[in-house]
Amino acid sequence: MSKVVAISFGRKMSNTDVMLKEVLIKCQEAGHEIQFIRPDDLNIEPCTGCCACVGGIMSGRSNGACVQKDDFHIVEDAFYSADAVLIGSPVYETSPSGTFKTFCDRMGPSHDLAFLTEAKKERMANGNPLLPDERVFKPRVGCLLAVGGARTENWTIMTIPVMYEAMMSTGVDVIDTHVYYGAMNVEHVLGVPGQMKRMDEMAQHVIDALAASNDEERTKWRGSEDYVCPVCHQSMVRVHQNSDLVECAICGINGKVIVENGKVRYEWPTAEQARSRMTYAGKLEHRNEIANGAVTQKKVAGLKDLKIKYMHVGE
Ligand SMILES: Cc1cc2nc3c(=O)[nH]c(=O)nc-3n(C[C@H](O)[C@H](O)[C@H](O)COP(=O)(O)O)c2cc1C
Repeated sequence: MSKVVAISFGRKMSNTDVMLKEVLIKCQEAGHEIQFIRPDDLNIEPCTGCCACVGGIMSGRSNGACVQKDDFHIVEDAFYSADAVLIGSPVYETSPSGTFKTFCDRMGPSHDLAFLTEAKKERMANGNPLLPDERVFKPRVGCLLAVGGARTENWTIMTIPVMYEAMMSTGVDVIDTHVYYGAMNVEHVLGVPGQMKRMDEMAQHVIDALAASNDEERTKWRGSEDYVCPVCHQSMVRVHQNSDLVECAICGINGKVIVENGKVRYEWPTAEQARSRMTYAGKLEHRNEIANGAVTQKKVAGLKDLKIKYMHVGE
């Protein structure tokens, strides 16, 4: 038996909640333990940006402890207890909700798989007994769900790409994503059988992944085949004027745009795919740039005095 945890940022018992609960019910019927959690019902403070979490991990003083003393540990515990994580958010202004973003910031560097893996190695080598929680290293699969009221998918465009942030730092392998748009056309998704059926399919993807006998099978993509990036399986890319360079906004990898017979296709070199933010190598690349002095590398002479001019501007 594995554990499936759903985290909803929708309104209580509205579309997002019920769609995630449909996945949970099917997973429970398949014999898995389930948990449903609504961060909006808890007291979760925003990240203050102090970077004490990163400083603690890098210096060996902590495992990413946060200065905020609130209910975040409840979400963290649920997340770390999971073998499969489902995250659902309503679409607000083409993106996930603000509390979803707060969750990502709090789940960010402080829970980064590469930061904590390297910290563990260094501490074991140095005899520092303050080792990270072993649950950090447990492999997990995940699914993302977005619910938008707009009649076309157009007004939901940035939601799923941004939602990958929730899986990035902890290294969750995303196996399926779904956008339900047009939610305002019908009072509730319980009156839209096609969407509920899609949730049953998502549940089956989770059940199949949890039953897999090897990592490749467990983490394999099971969602829509309509994508341009072979790593994250999404299509949110940045292109440039007068260049054939294309970048996946989610993975951070570079590729090439090729136009043939009026049609665009993309080439993603294997070495680039290997350094996606969704892979351990990609996270390690970022961990190393931070560890090698991204913070406080250059001191500004007389900074305190330079700031005086700006201290109370416009207040
Ligand atoms: C502040 C706000 C902004 C919204 N912006 C969008 C939007 O950009 N695109 C969209 O499709 N729906 C938008 N909606 C509609 C919600 O996504 C929709 O009501 C959805 O059903 C909410 O999910 P829930 O029923 O699970 O709470 C917005 C709603 C609110 C409250």
